[in-house]
Amino acid sequence: MTINKKILMLCLCLVGAVAGLHAQSFLGDNHAMKRVTTSQRYLLLPVEEKEEIAHVNVIVDNKVVKQFNCRLAVDHVDYYVPLELQSLGAPEALLDITFQGERRSKGVIKDFSCWQNMKYADAFDTRNTERFRPSYHHTPAYGWMNDPNGMFYKDGVWHLYFQYNPYGSQWENMTWGHSTSRDLVTWTQQPNAIEPDGLGTIFSGSAVVDKDNTAGFGAGAVVAIYTSAGASQVQSLAYSTDGGQTFTKYAGNPVITGDVPDFRDPNVFWNDETGEWNLVLAAGQEVRFYSSKNLKEWRYESSFGNGYGNHDGVWECPDMLRLPVEGTGSRKWALILNINPGGPFGGSATQYFTGTFDGHKFTCESSPSTTKWMDFGKDHYATVTFDNAPSGRAVAMAWMSNWQYANQVPTRQYRSANSIARDLYLFSSNGETYMASAPCREMEAVRGRKTAHPTETSEVEVNVKGSFTLTLRNRKGEEVVMSYDAAAQTLAMNRSKSGDTSFSESFAATTTAPTFGPLKTLRLFIDRCSIEAFGNNGKTAMTNLVFPSEPYNALSIKGKAKATVYELKAQPAQPATK
Ligand code: FRU
Repeated sequence: MTINKKILMLCLCLVGAVAGLHAQSFLGDNHAMKRVTTSQRYLLLPVEEKEEIAHVNVIVDNKVVKQFNCRLAVDHVDYYVPLELQSLGAPEALLDITFQGERRSKGVIKDFSCWQNMKYADAFDTRNTERFRPSYHHTPAYGWMNDPNGMFYKDGVWHLYFQYNPYGSQWENMTWGHSTSRDLVTWTQQPNAIEPDGLGTIFSGSAVVDKDNTAGFGAGAVVAIYTSAGASQVQSLAYSTDGGQTFTKYAGNPVITGDVPDFRDPNVFWNDETGEWNLVLAAGQEVRFYSSKNLKEWRYESSFGNGYGNHDGVWECPDMLRLPVEGTGSRKWALILNINPGGPFGGSATQYFTGTFDGHKFTCESSPSTTKWMDFGKDHYATVTFDNAPSGRAVAMAWMSNWQYANQVPTRQYRSANSIARDLYLFSSNGETYMASAPCREMEAVRGRKTAHPTETSEVEVNVKGSFTLTLRNRKGEEVVMSYDAAAQTLAMNRSKSGDTSFSESFAATTTAPTFGPLKTLRLFIDRCSIEAFGNNGKTAMTNLVFPSEPYNALSIKGKAKATVYELKAQPAQPATK
């Protein structure tokens, strides 16, 4: 070796040694450490969805400041997720990474592709580029979303929190993500609101505007109550004095503990008849009611559910509210209750009960064997309403998916959307009280001009005179067929040939709904991967996902109905979180 070559080798070794400071060390079959600098805004982590999770501890100054699970790429990169570095508040951090599962069959961890593909960046691209990413439905800018949480309205702004995984597009690391809107249609994602802590990850819950400062956090403070999902499920409080932007966790958490494993999803509401707060949560196969004067100390009141309605799955995400009964000038209590599985077409669905509630006990007015469904599609779950909505409105949003296939639907950088917002009311039919979900009136403002054909974002208004079949089709022959049977008074939607159904055997399906009398009008909201159908101002509601390889651009009707197609003014993509 010439002297020059020797000097060059030495230099390369030195560079290697210096780089090694910020490289990774492999400490065993499944354990690695990586030191990172925080001079750039993000470390982009490469994700491979089929891989097992790696547990990541972020260590600053010898303390674990963040922990999360991420499916770090072993073979190839499906997409990236950003790890925010500058908020760590130190020039360097150590990532302590433990890979789960059987590593031997994958080879040695130092050969995993994540090491070559992790990269620093000052920006993370969240443009709305995926083909199926809706244009007027809320989705997170990236990452996984399930249930809507803690929704409330204050000072002209609708706040939507949601079950969020910021480190991948499958369920994990439950955090409350946050988005806001002034019109219930255009949403802006805000920084994450409530992050996992020593009590566990942050499962579903609700939030109220404490106008009279009953909790002592300040008049108008926003008080969130959620499930801390640790070794057991317990209920915790966090409050916000800046209108829901940032939350402080209450030092006295947990505020409610239970004795059953499935003990979650607290929903709080002000009861103006008793002048107290009430809370309802899911506990196994029933719901439990509590009362409180200050949102901190809760008294158990009673349970409901044993023997009532559908019990073919786990009871989750209750919501209790009073709704107007159409044509009567009076209101009745309604208990919304989500169940998974057990839905009428398999998997997740939303049932409800109507009756009386005196602040202590709910009495269902129907026979125990009666089951009432709020929406007769396959993709309407975890439905809850906004607290403090203006003009006494009861505005609900659902998670537009189904646990049967939610983790497999063909999207990548983000997964799952919410339904459009719906105004709820009750109506009577054949001696029973039912719940209607009408498209919120804000949807009228985004209705554009009439068009000859549907596009990927259209509203279709159908004037119905009798039985008909309506088909939406694209040039590939993929189709969604809706049929109304006037004799049976049922509306059906068949998505068996709607496009990609291959990701789950449970996806191809026909869903059928009662129309509670003759169907007169039907409104369809088509977005890139969903169709929501509302008959007779929401007395029939049906929400289904579809994944066509190109938009349905033809609509045909056979039978006694006429359709008008409107463009929907697509909303701009949501800005990135920060
Ligand atoms: C419903 C649910 C809730 C739970 C949350 C966890 O979809 O299972 O019961 O709080 O999701 O993400």
